[in-house]
Amino acid sequence: MRGASYFVLLALPALFGFAGGINGYPEPTRAIDLWNPFGTTTPRPKGSPARENEVIVRLPLGDIIGKKVNLTNLPWTANHDPSQVTNPEWGQADPNPVPPLNNVTVYAFLGVPYAMAPVSSRRFRDPQPITQFPGEGPYLALEFKKVCPQDIETRPTLFINQPYPYQVDEDCLYLNVFTPDVSRSSDHKYPVIVFFHGGNFQTGSSNDWPGHVLASRGHVVVTANYRLGAFGFMSLGDTSTGNYGIKDQRVALSWVQQYIAAFGGDPQAVTIIGHDAGAVSAGIHMLSPLSKGLFRQVVAMSGAEVSYHSIIGKPALAYNNTLRLGRYLGCVDIEAHRVWDCIQQRSSDDIVLALSPASNPAIPIEFNRYLFLPTVDGVELTAHPLWLLNNVPTGGANLPSAVPYLTGMNAEDGVEVILEDRTLGEFTDFLQVTHEYQRSFIIEYAFRHNYTMNREAIVEAIDSLYTFWPDPADVWNIRKKFIELTTDAYYTSPIVLSAHLHSLTGSRTFMYVNNYNFSKTRDGSTQEDRKNFPGWMGACHECDLYLLFGFPFMPKELLPQQFKDVSWYETDRNASQLFGSFVKAFVSTSDPNLPYTGQWPAHQPREHWYVDFNYTFGASMESVGEIKRDYKYEEVAFWNNYLPLLVNYMTTTFPPWEVRERREVVSFKVIIVVLAVCLILAIVAALSFGYCVCTWKDRQKIDRRHFDRMQEYSSTQRIEMHSYPTSPRVEKHTSL
Ligand SMILES: *[C@@H]1O[C@H](CO)[C@@H](O)[C@H](O)[C@H]1NC(C)=O
Ligand SMILES: *[C@@H]1O[C@H](CO)[C@@H](O)[C@H](O)[C@H]1NC(C)=O
Ligand SMILES: *[C@@H]1O[C@H](CO)[C@@H](O)[C@H](O)[C@H]1NC(C)=O
Ligand SMILES: *[C@@H]1O[C@H](CO)[C@@H](O)[C@H](O)[C@H]1NC(C)=O
Ligand SMILES: *[C@@H]1O[C@H](CO)[C@@H](O)[C@H](O)[C@H]1NC(C)=O
Ligand SMILES: *[C@@H]1O[C@H](CO)[C@@H](O)[C@H](O)[C@H]1NC(C)=O
Ligand SMILES: *[C@@H]1O[C@H](CO)[C@@H](O)[C@H](O)[C@H]1NC(C)=O
Repeated sequence: MRGASYFVLLALPALFGFAGGINGYPEPTRAIDLWNPFGTTTPRPKGSPARENEVIVRLPLGDIIGKKVNLTNLPWTANHDPSQVTNPEWGQADPNPVPPLNNVTVYAFLGVPYAMAPVSSRRFRDPQPITQFPGEGPYLALEFKKVCPQDIETRPTLFINQPYPYQVDEDCLYLNVFTPDVSRSSDHKYPVIVFFHGGNFQTGSSNDWPGHVLASRGHVVVTANYRLGAFGFMSLGDTSTGNYGIKDQRVALSWVQQYIAAFGGDPQAVTIIGHDAGAVSAGIHMLSPLSKGLFRQVVAMSGAEVSYHSIIGKPALAYNNTLRLGRYLGCVDIEAHRVWDCIQQRSSDDIVLALSPASNPAIPIEFNRYLFLPTVDGVELTAHPLWLLNNVPTGGANLPSAVPYLTGMNAEDGVEVILEDRTLGEFTDFLQVTHEYQRSFIIEYAFRHNYTMNREAIVEAIDSLYTFWPDPADVWNIRKKFIELTTDAYYTSPIVLSAHLHSLTGSRTFMYVNNYNFSKTRDGSTQEDRKNFPGWMGACHECDLYLLFGFPFMPKELLPQQFKDVSWYETDRNASQLFGSFVKAFVSTSDPNLPYTGQWPAHQPREHWYVDFNYTFGASMESVGEIKRDYKYEEVAFWNNYLPLLVNYMTTTFPPWEVRERREVVSFKVIIVVLAVCLILAIVAALSFGYCVCTWKDRQKIDRRHFDRMQEYSSTQRIEMHSYPTSPRVEKHTSL
């Protein structure tokens, strides 16, 4: 019910404007956001020129106006970065050192359309690139646009009661550009970062990741929305439907190729940075021949395309899921295309609510984690990425873009699974992760993973590995173990596998594990200060993104809502700067090593190097972390090797109903065998009898002769010989 009221709150204002309470619902109260004032600014007249603090860029699509933003007190400038200065210890002191604090101006173009609005007849269709900005020019790119339809209730966030600051709308194919330089006279070209947000292909938006600080370090940053859930991935399992979200991303990448030079970016130096679902998408673009040439490097953060839970591998399942959604929405027809057309007529709220786990009844999810995910359709993906990557080394499959690959994860990525469960957060502050909760999660996991055999044994194996045995009733440790379980199942095992396979298939591969714990910095600080980073979250699912996007350097008005009152510390800023340094090195040179170190070895198929990123108070800014090998190899082998083996073993562990069935089957088999043996014996007996009768006369003759001959031998054997003729042993006769 909460879900429903939220949707009305968020969707209706879009239709009727913000003129007070609507239909009895109170007007939402939220702080005014400079970047998304929710209708608080008066629209300015069309065709007005750029004002002071604005900037205009000429594109073949039309003129576009963006905003100038001043960032203060940064330890770098766009063209001069301390991480790229020669090591002073080597005696080559920089003649022109970077001042410790600098003011940098960046230019933000928010809400730039890159494809036609996927509404009405363009709904559930391939995206169409735009040829001209809508309206009479210049196009005002001053505010974030609406985000793609999604169940905002399932966003993994600590603040479940905080209203979502953005409106949702199907007209959501927009990108944002952040650049340090737009002057046409400058010949400086910056490497380009195209960022695809995460959210398991179900939630999230580019608006959550303001790219100003990242741009100030000398990148042109593009963050793009793509369609989510059913809107992005509904498929009939054929070659012409589904994967719209992936196609949206490709249109955004082509947009970057065509127009980014006007924003000071180098179209030859594009890096895709994907987080979570975005990382899965980046891996799909590497595998898709259609995306070849659109990027030069890939950074996959907290996600991997080889994950069972991120791709629907069976077209029949995608088809079934679409029909299931149709049935829920009252679209019942024998012909799938009629069902499709019927879903096409349903409102976006109806579709989002149908897929919400909170709706009652919810559509059961048979396999994978969600109903709508990227699908193996034969065009975008010719087979499951795991199969493709496994077959590249033998020439059985193609890897169109074997580009340098930087992959990594947060040590506690699985926190996301807990945060996604609103009922946990609403009543108990995410503490009530009990052992029963863990067990039901594992059972559901085993079912959805299509572990068709030995499901009970698999549940026990997983449960046993992730039970805190010293005190199985300790809630803190249950939650800690549960986070380990979800992290290993959804992140560690596929990411480590992906790093291995990419290094095997010719990509120069690097891997990091982020152990930077924001709560540690806040030890001993106020309660208010710690509420964003409770200790149990550790290095949370988005913690590496806070570092990458430079949240600790960001002015309050640019930060997403929930971070506006966070105090950041110098250690946070150092960690953020260091994290950004190695990403900057990778984006510009395909190698994440800081210029004067060279300590971080590439991941090898037989030497699984990675960097443990763990900045601590006062540590050196010249080392990205400890170099280690074989991250969590025992857990990885458990998920990737042991469990699949266990599935194929016959054991005696069966659920009770199966035991009964099996007993029946076994007794049935025994009876059949006994009957068959009796039958064979009877046949043999009958045949022998027939044979005896037929050969009776011959035998009597032979026996007589035999008897006579035998009598010529010793008389002591006579008694034995007397009994001989009655014996039916045929072979003895023939041997004579
Ligand atoms: C940014 O800084 C420049 C000069 O440092 C100044 O002219 C301009 O007004 C500032 N803009 C904003 C939005 O503060
Ligand atoms: C940066 O801007 C701030 C506030 O606008 C100002 O106080 C400071 O002096 C400036 N610093 C530099 C190095 O220009
Ligand atoms: C799809 O549904 C049909 C009919 O319900 C079922 O027989 C089939 O196994 C399902 N396929 C998959 C891959 O789930
Ligand atoms: C599940 O596994 C069975 C047996 O291995 C297979 O036939 C079926 O297609 C699988 N279903 C899905 C959705 O992967
Ligand atoms: C993170 O730091 C806090 C505070 O020091 C600590 O309580 C917590 O255990 C740490 N989390 C992890 C996962 O190490
Ligand atoms: C991080 O580094 C500190 C100091 O080197 C060490 O005590 C701590 O155990 C490390 N944490 C992790 C998770 O590696
Ligand atoms: C941050 O890094 C600087 C060197 O760049 C160092 O002097 C300072 O002590 C570091 N601060 C913390 C809190 O680690």
